[in-house]
Amino acid sequence: MTTPVTPVTTPVPETRHYTIDVIAGDGIGREVMPAALRCVDALAPVHGFTVDWRERDWGSDHYRAHSRMMPADGIEQLASGDGILLGAVGAPDIPDEVTLWGLLIPIRREFFQYVNLRPIRILPGVTSPLRGIDELDLVVVRENIEGEYSEVGGRLYRGRPEEMAVQESVFTRAGVARIARFAAELAQRRSGRLVSATKSNGIIHTMPFWDEVVEATVSEHPGVTVEKVLIDALAARMVLKPQSLDVIVASNLFGDILSDLAAGAAGSIGVAPSANLNPEKTHPSMFEPVHGSAPDIAGRGVANPVGTMWAAAMMLDHLGEAAAARHLESAFEQALADGTRTGDLGGTASTEEFTQAVLARCTAAP
Ligand code: NAI
Ligand code: MG
Repeated sequence: MTTPVTPVTTPVPETRHYTIDVIAGDGIGREVMPAALRCVDALAPVHGFTVDWRERDWGSDHYRAHSRMMPADGIEQLASGDGILLGAVGAPDIPDEVTLWGLLIPIRREFFQYVNLRPIRILPGVTSPLRGIDELDLVVVRENIEGEYSEVGGRLYRGRPEEMAVQESVFTRAGVARIARFAAELAQRRSGRLVSATKSNGIIHTMPFWDEVVEATVSEHPGVTVEKVLIDALAARMVLKPQSLDVIVASNLFGDILSDLAAGAAGSIGVAPSANLNPEKTHPSMFEPVHGSAPDIAGRGVANPVGTMWAAAMMLDHLGEAAAARHLESAFEQALADGTRTGDLGGTASTEEFTQAVLARCTAAP
C-alpha cells in the first residue's frame, strides 16, 4: 500500500441534489421562510442544482396539539436530510424555555452543531446606530454545544427561604480545541487576526483553561495571531472601535451576547443570519435568521426577509454551492442598495415587494 499524496477528488455529478428540511415555525418565521425558499428555487436552475424542501409544521401549534414542539422521532426524521432551514419559534403563551429546549437545543446537540457562525456586515441602505461607523465586516464564532448552557445542576428546597440553584459550566479540551480550530482556520482565510473572548481574571477555572487551549490550538495555525480580550472590555470595544475586530471566538454565553451586540451595531436584527454548523458534515447543519417570531408584527406581511435569505446563502455555501450563495447575497444587497426596504430599515416595502426585488436579481446573471 502506498500512501496517496494527492487528495481523493470525487467527481462532481451532473446535477447536484439536496434535501432540505424546512421548519418555518411561528409568527414571522412563516412569512420570511417562503421568501427565502423562492429565492433558492430561482437560483437552482441558474446554478445547476435541485432542492427538495421537506416542510415540517413543527413549532408552537404542534406544541398546543401534541404537547411537543416536534414529534418524538423528529431528530431521526431530520437526520436523513442535507440541511435544515429554521424560521423562528416562540409564542407569547408558551414559555420560551419550552420552545428553545423542545426544538432548537436538541437539534444543535444531537447533530453536534458545535459551531454557531454569525457574520456581521453593515448592508447597503442600513445605518449603524454607532456614530461615524459605515463599514463593518466581522464574524463571531460561538461555541454552540457546551460551556455555560449545560444541563448540569439543579434546584433545591423549592419555594423555601433556603432555596438554591446551581448550574455548572462545562468546558472540555476537545470542545474548546475544535471551536478554536474552526475560528483559526477562518481567520487564516481572512485577516489572520483572531480575538478570543475571555474572563480569566474573574472566572478562575474554566476561563484560564479556555485561554490555554485556544492559544495552543491557534499556535498550530501559521499566519494567525490571537489576542485575548476580557469580555467586558470587548463589549466596550465592539461599540467604540468595532472596525478593529475581524474574527472573534467565544464560549456559548459570551458568543451569544456578543453576536447580538454586534448585530445591533450593524443596524438591524432583521438582517442578521446565523449558522449552526457540523463542520465535518456527519450530521445536517441548521441555518436560521437571528431574530425571533416577532409577535408584534406577525401576520401583517411587513417582516424583513433578509436574515432568512442570508441564512439560506450560508446554507448554500455549506452545501458547496458557493456561486449560488454569492449570487443570493448580491441579489439582496442590490435590492437594498436600489432603495427597496422594509419598515424596520425605514422603507415602505412589504415582505412580498422586497422579495420580488430580490427574485428579479436571482434569475438575472449576478
Ligand atoms: P424578536 O426578534 O422576535 O423581535 C424583536 C423586535 O425586532 C420586535 O420589535 C420585532 O418586530 C423586530 N423584528 C425582529 N425581526 C424582524 C424582521 N425580520 N423584520 C422586521 N422587524 C423585526 O425578539 P423577541 O420579541 O424578544 O421574541 C419574540 C419571540 O421569539 C419569543 O418567543 C422568543 O423566545 C422568540 N425567539 C426565537 C428565536 C429563534 O427562534 N431562534 C430567537 C429570538 C427570539
Ligand atoms: Mg441570542
